[in-house]
Amino acid sequence: MKAVLFDLDGVITDTAHYHYKAWRWLGEEIGVVVDEAFNEELKGISRSESLEKILEKGNLTTKYTQTEKNELTTKKNDVYQKMIEEMTPNDLLPGIQELLLDLKEKQLKIGLASASQNGPFILAKLNIADLFDTIVDPTTLKAGKPAPDIFIQGAKQLAIAPVDCVGVEDAIAGVSAICAANMAAVGVGDAVQLKEATKVVPTTDLLTYPLLEKTWQDYRN
Ligand code: G6P
Ligand code: MG
Repeated sequence: MKAVLFDLDGVITDTAHYHYKAWRWLGEEIGVVVDEAFNEELKGISRSESLEKILEKGNLTTKYTQTEKNELTTKKNDVYQKMIEEMTPNDLLPGIQELLLDLKEKQLKIGLASASQNGPFILAKLNIADLFDTIVDPTTLKAGKPAPDIFIQGAKQLAIAPVDCVGVEDAIAGVSAICAANMAAVGVGDAVQLKEATKVVPTTDLLTYPLLEKTWQDYRN
């Protein structure tokens, strides 16, 4: 294992919950129920794709023009940004700071592979931006998760072969993207939902360097 590519929301910090709250709010505005089960389908995918899924659920795909759709995603992002404004390093999920420092000490490369355009802002708020060797800009990619593009691009930016990388994800679409990129996948969350992953842990405090290294070795063998 030479590099680790991290998803952000739900892996490094609990912004997955803020995204959920903001989409639920927008759903209420337009009359679509966004519950926790449906929200699983929104994890890992872009803002515009998330809106499309919500509109599909409400049979509203033809109701809005592209301009109106842009207004809706902007409204959601405004609500979301108010929530993340107050974030501090205390909002790092358990074990993440220790893991990042451990990976640095072992001289592994660290990359961010998040579909979020708010990624750099959040890393700064969490005071961990310096620990990242690279951040993939999700707006430059042809296809979002579950396509492998974001993880392949992350490996490329680090100049490491995908097969020598481990990806860490909490979303079903994200785990699929890692697998499609030919990387070992570590899932955080429900082992049944994330069954495609090489290894699943229920919580981030279990994400340690030895666990990632072992997962990578199991994947290679
Ligand atoms: C991640 C999250 C999604 C979010 C997407 C876009 O993939 O898991 O819930 O919708 O990023 O985030 P953004 O901050 O750009 O709206
Ligand atoms: Mg996530």
